[in-house]
Amino acid sequence: MSQSVTMEKIVSFSKRRGFIFQSSEIYGGIRSAYDYGPLGVEMKRNVKDEWWRSMVHTRDDVVGLDAAIIMHPRVWEASGHVGTFNDMLVESRTSGRRYRADHLIEAATDIDAEGMTASELTELIHSDERIKDPLDGGRDFTEVRPFNLMFETYTGPVKSEENIAYLRPETAQGIFTNFKNVLDTSRVKVPFGIAQIGKSFRNEITPGNFIFRTREFEQMEMEFFVEPGTDEGWHDYWLDQRWNWYTALGIDPENLRRYEHPKEKLSHYSKRTVDLEYNFPFAGWSELEGVANRTDYDLKRHTEFSGQKLEYRDQQQNRAYVPYVIEPAGGADRMTLAFLVDAYEEEEVSEDDVRTVLKLHPRIAPIKAAVFPLSKKEPVSTVARELYDDLKGDYRIAYDDGGSIGRRYRRQDEAGTPFCVTVDFDTLEDKQVTIRDRDTMTQERIPVEAVRDRLKALISG
Ligand code: GAP
Repeated sequence: MSQSVTMEKIVSFSKRRGFIFQSSEIYGGIRSAYDYGPLGVEMKRNVKDEWWRSMVHTRDDVVGLDAAIIMHPRVWEASGHVGTFNDMLVESRTSGRRYRADHLIEAATDIDAEGMTASELTELIHSDERIKDPLDGGRDFTEVRPFNLMFETYTGPVKSEENIAYLRPETAQGIFTNFKNVLDTSRVKVPFGIAQIGKSFRNEITPGNFIFRTREFEQMEMEFFVEPGTDEGWHDYWLDQRWNWYTALGIDPENLRRYEHPKEKLSHYSKRTVDLEYNFPFAGWSELEGVANRTDYDLKRHTEFSGQKLEYRDQQQNRAYVPYVIEPAGGADRMTLAFLVDAYEEEEVSEDDVRTVLKLHPRIAPIKAAVFPLSKKEPVSTVARELYDDLKGDYRIAYDDGGSIGRRYRRQDEAGTPFCVTVDFDTLEDKQVTIRDRDTMTQERIPVEAVRDRLKALISG
């Protein structure tokens, strides 16, 4: 990561190169919603594919799932989200602005307000002279009220209480509610996991930092069911696995750390939670993903609310028990941002020349290779086209015949394309092409028929 990388730089770079656009921009945009452009969609897909490959395809103890976003509303009562998935809000009567009570308090005092009740927060805000409306300095505040973060909607044509449904605020509950289905239909044995990637929605009061916190986002969660008593060991195992996943895909370990949640601040379901944090240049150390020990909380709650027994029968021990759950839960958007920021470099080539390059791991790079014909004319272009047609399909490959080779390299450097293959006049004679490496900028000549295997080795290596 460049020292000088700022949020503004990343936002404008993302737009200029077609990674990420503001949603509904032609209407002035909508706050905290973003669209992935041609390069961004490839990159985010790669992040998700790599996660799925590591969590599901390369393992024999994890299966996949794709559950519905709109679930039975009782699910969210059982999970605790209807009762406790709240932010505490307060309104300033002088400006009419609403604030998160804990943010207001923490900005003006050194009091840690997380976990305080609504009446404790009200009392504090009303009595502490230091707490003021940041907009106009006013000190006339309403009572603090809990605000539920779940998006509500109605199923069917009648907008009535009994038709209320929610857009899921986490993908995890789709996994718990399918626990029995998966047990009954797959040959899984504890310890085993169920993984899912999908959209989640939270009516965040303070979204921001680009795609770091939005109201609609994509989660990648895996619930790993284990025998009680073995949960602590599995928790450490998954923490290591997830750390290694990031670093193997090129995240600088200097920018990654673990954050252990203090016991008194744990979520209602958690025995222990450790976040993997990334040092974002604009937000500091912030959660990339949480790895939680959810105990048997969710399965027991769903048993209680649905009346369906959710347990595992261990044939060997001839006993049934409710498994504990270890949950690595990450966000595809947040991870994409971390990969983007970590890879972004501005290299000073000379006094008046800066090379912007995304040093993405080849597996994460949106385009794996670009084919350049030195000339737009035949027969060089024909050979280049043939090579392009041969390579495309396995991965996203670019074909670029516009401008000087130097300019074409720079375009691909910005897109994060790890390899550029140039077909020149000598190719017609010696049947060799030049492969140029994005990071070292070294070039090598190899036979044209070896390019495909070579790329495969370079990308998977
Ligand atoms: N099932 C547990 C759970 O949902 P979480 O820490 O609230 O835990 C998991 O969310 C991950 O989802 C976070 O680490 C983050 O990467 C992502 N995430 C959560 N809220 C988000 C938001 N508003 N915008 C973008 N990503 C978000």
